[in-house]
Amino acid sequence: MTAKEAEDGVLHVGIDLGTSRSSISTSDGQKFVVDSYVGWPADMVAIKVLKKKILIGEEALKNRVMLDLHRPLERGLIKEGSEKDLQAVREIIGHLLKRSGVKSGHSVRAVIGVPAEAMRVNKQQLRNVLGGLVDSLMIVSEPFSVAYGLDALLHALIIDIGAGTADFCVMKGRFPTEEDQRTLTQAGDSVDEQLEKLISASHPDVTFSEHMVREWKEKYAFVGEPKGPIKVTAPVQGKPTEIDITAEIRSACESLLAPVTETMIELLAKVEPEYQAEVRNHVILTGGSALTRGLSETLELALEEYGGGSVRRVEDPIYVGSDGALAIAIDAPAGDWEKVPAKA
Ligand SMILES: Nc1ncnc2c1ncn2[C@@H]1O[C@H](COP(=O)(O)OP(=O)(O)OP(=O)(O)O)[C@@H](O)[C@H]1O
Ligand SMILES: [Mg+2]
Repeated sequence: MTAKEAEDGVLHVGIDLGTSRSSISTSDGQKFVVDSYVGWPADMVAIKVLKKKILIGEEALKNRVMLDLHRPLERGLIKEGSEKDLQAVREIIGHLLKRSGVKSGHSVRAVIGVPAEAMRVNKQQLRNVLGGLVDSLMIVSEPFSVAYGLDALLHALIIDIGAGTADFCVMKGRFPTEEDQRTLTQAGDSVDEQLEKLISASHPDVTFSEHMVREWKEKYAFVGEPKGPIKVTAPVQGKPTEIDITAEIRSACESLLAPVTETMIELLAKVEPEYQAEVRNHVILTGGSALTRGLSETLELALEEYGGGSVRRVEDPIYVGSDGALAIAIDAPAGDWEKVPAKA
């Protein structure tokens, strides 16, 4: 926190509200990340065991069998028409603010990054749930906050492949417009769904949960040629059994290739001709799904046909979104903020 902020009692925060993980970075140097899950004990037995009214993040995930568990975002949007999901978003943001030591005396100015498409439809819902948590708010698109944080503001293309969405944004040295951005719902969650289907089809006797499938994917995700067989263990009628899921992992992960490549090329083709080469050489890949082995190389290969380019992967994608949102918060002039009513 700067001396000026301390004097004014103002704290600037950047929040990346993600489908699978949400993170916060604050102007006094705090950073936290939480799995985007909220759970309420299912009944009086669960309350007795858990001794809590609400569980958030990993703790909720770990105790999921005793909970009414909510992952409030889906395909980039807050799930429609569900009060519990809205409440869950509020809990996640409240939890992040509390963890980073925000006190009631603080006046919090928050920049929140959301998927590019959500900007159009979901903003109002987000404003409504933030009443009383923050004083001033700015909602920006996720890939824009990433661009800002990496200082990739001119002639760059950001591709952020998360869980619910893959977000694209071409930076032209000014606020990106709708035209400069795209959101696809092909991302980590859709890979998980495919993988579940493929494994069920090829190994119909094996039982597994969506969480197991996600763990397998996160450990082994790849596109292109496999490095070796991928074997995992799961029960068949209660008996732990080893299965080979190399082909299934490959096809599930490769389902991202066509839509991501097409969108990348489409956005590049729309850049003013004299800058296209520069943008092609400044493609930045981030988000958890960008960790898929071989993905950045495959995208780079796709650029060859168009004159070649460079796709750089952000090594540690956890805080790039919230760090970028914080950088926007610190730079934003007073007129760019909207006041949040104390209670919605
Ligand atoms: N090593 C890995 N290989 C492939 N995928 C991974 C790996 N690690 C995490 N993921 C996937 O990345 C996704 C989470 O990424 P990220 O944290 O960027 O998403 P998010 O910001 O919560 O989602 P969104 O931006 O869509 O709202 C999940 O689908 C997760 O399974
Ligand atoms: Mg994200």
